[in-house]
Amino acid sequence: METYTSPSDHVQLHDLLFVALFSEKDVRERVQELGQAITQQYQDKQPLFISILSGAFVFAADLMRAFDGACEVGFVKLASYSGTTSTGEVKTVMGLEKELRGRHIIVVEDIVDSGRTLHYFHEYLQAQEPASICTVAFLRKPEAVVFPVKVDHVGFDIEDRFVVGYGLDYDGLGRNLPGVYQLAER
Ligand code: IMP
Ligand code: MG
Repeated sequence: METYTSPSDHVQLHDLLFVALFSEKDVRERVQELGQAITQQYQDKQPLFISILSGAFVFAADLMRAFDGACEVGFVKLASYSGTTSTGEVKTVMGLEKELRGRHIIVVEDIVDSGRTLHYFHEYLQAQEPASICTVAFLRKPEAVVFPVKVDHVGFDIEDRFVVGYGLDYDGLGRNLPGVYQLAER
């Protein structure tokens, strides 16, 4: 089985076949809209975009360039451990070097699945007493959300099926795809 075939209406990654869901153009247009909405809210507030690594790095790069105003960016890496309990645990692997107190924070996430990552990170952020927190997710699987999370802006709501591309990976591959692909039905 081939590891990789180049993107068109489908892509093969490792052992799985994915079919096109959102084109590069769909994505670009939606990210511009999100950038405009965030500009209206934060134009004069010098917000700090916080990108959750690794998946959100592509979205964050485009989103902050669609923001028309002064802004900063920071990165945080979180790792989740689904131990013996159903709730699991999320741990900060690489923290922020920025002072968050009094800042307007825009959390940038690739996808909200169970909501565990954002739920945990939101609690961590609130403890730092920022001026405000706004959460932006490129994708959301509404049926999959089990942790209560307030997402202020969503790129696309999608069905509960595994997706790759635009920063999202399947076992390391697919992050460089400019569009979004979902696991083919079989
Ligand atoms: P949550 O904490 O369950 O909301 O999971 C969020 C994280 O799981 C995301 O930031 C992704 O890294 C990963 N994830 C969830 N669903 C997918 C998917 O369909 N494709 C790729 N990664 C996913
Ligand atoms: Mg992620």
